[in-house]
Amino acid sequence: MSRLDSFINRMSAQRDMLNHVRDNCALPDGGMIFEIGLGNGRTFSHLRENFPDRRIVAFDRKLASHAAGTPDPQDFVEGEIRETGQAFVGSNAALVHADIGTGYDDKDAMTLTWLPQMVAGMLASGGYAVSGLPLSHPDLEELPRLPTVQEGRYFHYRRR
Ligand SMILES: C[S@@+](CC[C@H](N)C(=O)[O-])C[C@H]1O[C@@H](n2cnc3c(N)ncnc32)[C@H](O)[C@@H]1O
Repeated sequence: MSRLDSFINRMSAQRDMLNHVRDNCALPDGGMIFEIGLGNGRTFSHLRENFPDRRIVAFDRKLASHAAGTPDPQDFVEGEIRETGQAFVGSNAALVHADIGTGYDDKDAMTLTWLPQMVAGMLASGGYAVSGLPLSHPDLEELPRLPTVQEGRYFHYRRR
């Protein structure tokens, strides 16, 4: 598959799964949304449009988002998420979206040594995670793949 097709698949899977959560999942009351990997801010912008009543906190090494997809300063956490995210473990988030896969197996394997545990720890019981990398953790129940999403492309979970 070309990298262009792979990129398009990732973007459409991300949008479909976030919309699925919006339409079908009862998020825990009042919980924040965490955007792990702000990047250009396209997904942040989508989250803001589709979950207007939630506080959305975004994480990245550096702020490099488009002006139209940039959080307020108090809702952006700069630095290595492995470290900065620790302060948000136990914060009973309603939804965590993580888009920090690189396409390099060795780098992603390093990320997967800490990301599943961090996401599970950030979520309230009954909260949801949507991720480009698989999050194998006993507290995260994997949900069935959406028909529009290719096998292994994007994953979603409910915190037990
Ligand atoms: C694929 S991009 C996210 C794209 C985003 N969904 C958007 O709408 O533009 C991944 C982002 O995560 C950040 N990132 C990846 N791993 C990180 C880490 N361990 N700590 C901090 N930021 C990280 C990168 O700097 C990059 O901006």
